Amino acid sequence: MEKYLIKGGRPLKGEVSVSGAKNAALAVLPAALLSGDICKIENVPVVEDIRVLLEAIEDLGVKVNYENNGHTVIMDCRNIEKLVVDYKHINKIRASYYLLGSLLGAYNFSKVALPGGCNIGARPIDQHIKGFKSLGAEVDIKHGMVQVSADKLVGSTVYLDSPSVGATINIMMAACKAEGQTEIENPAKEPHIVDVANFLNSMGANIKGAGTDVIKIKGVSEMHGSEYMIIPDMIEAGTYMVAAAISKGDVTVKNLIPKHMDAVVAKLKEMDVKVEEFGDSLRVYYEEEYKNTHVKTLPYPGFPTDMQPQFVALMSMVSGVGLMTESIFESRFSYTSELRRMGADIKVEGNTAIVTGVDGFTGAEVKATDLRAGAALVLAGLAARGDTVISDIYNIDRGYEHLEEKIKGLGGWIARIDDEKVGLKVVGD
Ligand code: EPU
Repeated sequence: MEKYLIKGGRPLKGEVSVSGAKNAALAVLPAALLSGDICKIENVPVVEDIRVLLEAIEDLGVKVNYENNGHTVIMDCRNIEKLVVDYKHINKIRASYYLLGSLLGAYNFSKVALPGGCNIGARPIDQHIKGFKSLGAEVDIKHGMVQVSADKLVGSTVYLDSPSVGATINIMMAACKAEGQTEIENPAKEPHIVDVANFLNSMGANIKGAGTDVIKIKGVSEMHGSEYMIIPDMIEAGTYMVAAAISKGDVTVKNLIPKHMDAVVAKLKEMDVKVEEFGDSLRVYYEEEYKNTHVKTLPYPGFPTDMQPQFVALMSMVSGVGLMTESIFESRFSYTSELRRMGADIKVEGNTAIVTGVDGFTGAEVKATDLRAGAALVLAGLAARGDTVISDIYNIDRGYEHLEEKIKGLGGWIARIDDEKVGLKVVGD
């Protein structure tokens, strides 16, 4: 099993470029099935979740070709042979559920293994199902598979109990070719909702209002192939911004959309981390001692839950008491016990982590319990005295492209190791 070895204590300095948004790509690639044609998708991040999803898509009969080191994906969706996505492809990625909406929208039928993904809460799909049913589909859940089918889909109004990213995208995809108009009330507004809507529109769909309080989808009878470029990954960008702050360095994070970073920037500034904007870049640097803060995760444009663990790592290194309230996922604090092993002082009460700043982390052997938890541990390792060894890094590979290269490019010390092979000995400070 591969692990990360990180030698901490080096301030990160220089420039890093953000890859394409994983959570946008995970929806855009399934959405291409609605074209029944050839689509060329650029700026696809080369990460494990995408590789697994594309394997599942290929298994449906889509011919997938790659250019530009895997960052451009060409999908020929003209000869779909199968509308069933097996568990073997899907047990590790949550985004499998996007194949439910896209195949349903394109062929009035889909059967997909129930999703896996990061273990951060119960993560039901009742809102997706409510949406499919209101479009006239029958939904049957048996033997770990969800089957959705309809003679024809008819537009309708769907009110989401909570603004679910997955449900919003799935209903948008299913409704593209439905008869009449669909309205999604209380939809999610994340940048990747808008990205997927833009891609669907580029294939001939008629979607208005993505990113606002109501999304209106007028059904169209035909869709077609398209060329599309995925937006930059705001969470990857935010992770490198916190890497700059936690290592007391000076990093310019390039190729991002500053507007998407507003909540993260606001909180960093509140902590006295210096942030400067230059067009499509943000420079983040240390100038004076930071102060602790209170953060609450909320749907976009609120503070993203996917930045919560990374921020808790930063808050742990700042004197005073900070509070982190998680309002999206009920069990997204499991990583705090790993941070405690590195010296953090974090108490979790209900959905709030009470973080008392300590005088630095010390390297330890820790485990990446999920993707963003893994990111938080990498950040803590970069700031720690001594060596940190992170196991279960497959969780990090799911969503961060070329993490080692990017960190090394900023002067950080990180290596992928196989401790059984090299007989690793972890040294203290
Ligand atoms: N929810 C329901 N019923 C549903 C759907 C969601 O109760 O039918 C609840 C969830 O349990 C959760 C809340 O609504 O409490 C929000 O869930 P949402 O559906 O928005 O999340 P998701 O679509 O499962 C995506 C990202 C997550 C990200 C969340 C929130 C993908 C593949 N995943 O998940 O990304 O945390 O939105 O922004 O896009 C990550 O990248 O590390 C990650 C976990």
